[in-house]
Amino acid sequence: MSAQTRLVKQVNRVFHEEESAEYDARHPEILLEDTKRWDSWLDAIAPVLKDDLHALDIGTGTGFVASLLAERLNRRSVLFCADLSPRMLDLTRRKLDGNGRKASVGYSVCDAECLPFESARFGLVTASAVLHHLPCPDVFLREVDRVLRPGGVLILAHEPNRRFFQNRVILWTYIGMELFKKYASPANYYRKLAKVIVPVRRGATARQAPGLYERVAERLRREGLVDRVLSPNEIQSLVDVNVSWAGGDLLANDPSKEFDPFDLKTRFFPRYHGVDVASYGHMGEFLPHFPPSRLVHAALRRLYPQDGLHFVMILRKPHL
Ligand SMILES: C[S@@+](CC[C@H](N)C(=O)[O-])C[C@H]1O[C@@H](n2cnc3c(N)ncnc32)[C@H](O)[C@@H]1O
Repeated sequence: MSAQTRLVKQVNRVFHEEESAEYDARHPEILLEDTKRWDSWLDAIAPVLKDDLHALDIGTGTGFVASLLAERLNRRSVLFCADLSPRMLDLTRRKLDGNGRKASVGYSVCDAECLPFESARFGLVTASAVLHHLPCPDVFLREVDRVLRPGGVLILAHEPNRRFFQNRVILWTYIGMELFKKYASPANYYRKLAKVIVPVRRGATARQAPGLYERVAERLRREGLVDRVLSPNEIQSLVDVNVSWAGGDLLANDPSKEFDPFDLKTRFFPRYHGVDVASYGHMGEFLPHFPPSRLVHAALRRLYPQDGLHFVMILRKPHL
C-alpha cells in the first residue's frame, strides 16, 4: 500500500470519527433527500428482499441505509454493517437497536478495499456515498464482485458523476446558482446578519468548541499521521479523494476524478444486468424548492437524464 493510499484511509477514519456525532445534521442532502430515492430503489428489488438474505452495507456511517434495510429484511435475514470508523458503527447500533427490526445485525470495523467476508456470501451489497472516499476504487469494486453471490444485487448510490462536470450547460447553471446563493440570495444576508447579532447577545464568555476541521487537523498531528496542521481544504481533498471540487474550487475539473457510471459498469461489471443506472441532482446540491428553479431542474433532467451530480447503479450479478 502506498503512503498516499494509507494517508487517505487514515484521514477518512479520523475525519468520520470526528464527524460522526454531527453527521446527520451536516448531511441533509443524503439523509433527507435520498430517503425517497432509496425507498424506490428498494421497491425495485423487493423480491430479493423477501428472500432469507445475507446483506452487507459498506461504509454504513450513522446507519442511513442500514435502517432502511432493517425495516424490510425478514427475521431469517442477516444484515452486516461495515465501516472504518467504530464511532459511526456505535451510532448505527444505537439506531438499529431502537427501531424494532426483525433481521439480525452484525458489525464489522474494516476497510472497504479488503472485506473480511468469504466470497459469494451476500445476496445484497449496498454502499451509499462511499466510493468517492476510497483511494483505490478499482480494488473496492473487485471486492464487491467477490463477496456478491450469483443472482445477488449491488446498489451503489450517491456518487459524484463525471458527466455532470462535462456538461457545460449543467455546469454553468450550477455555478450560476452557487453565485446567486453566495451574493444575491436574501437568505444569505439574513444568515450574515444573524451571525453578527447572536455573538453580541451571547457575549464574550461563551467558549466555542473547536470546529470539525480543527479537531481533525489536531488529531492527525497528535497521532503522528502528518507533521503539520492541514488546512480544511487539504483535509477535504484527502477525505473526498475522488472529487475534484473537494478543495472548494468548482471549476477544478480533473477528468481522472469522479466516476462515469456507464464506464464503471463496462469495466467492472460487464456481465451484470442493469436493473437501473440513473443520475439525479441536476442543479447540484442546490435544492429546487421554488417554482422557477423547479422548472429549470425539470428541463435539465429531461434534456440530460444521465448528467445529474450524483448517480446510482443497481446491478444484478448473473447466475453462473
Ligand atoms: C459519507 S459517509 C456515508 C455514510 C452512509 N453510507 C450514508 O449514506 O449516510 C462515508 C462513510 O464511509 C466510511 N469510510 C470511508 N473510507 C472507508 C474505507 N476505506 N472503508 C470502510 N469505510 C470507509 C466512513 O467512515 C463513513 O462512515
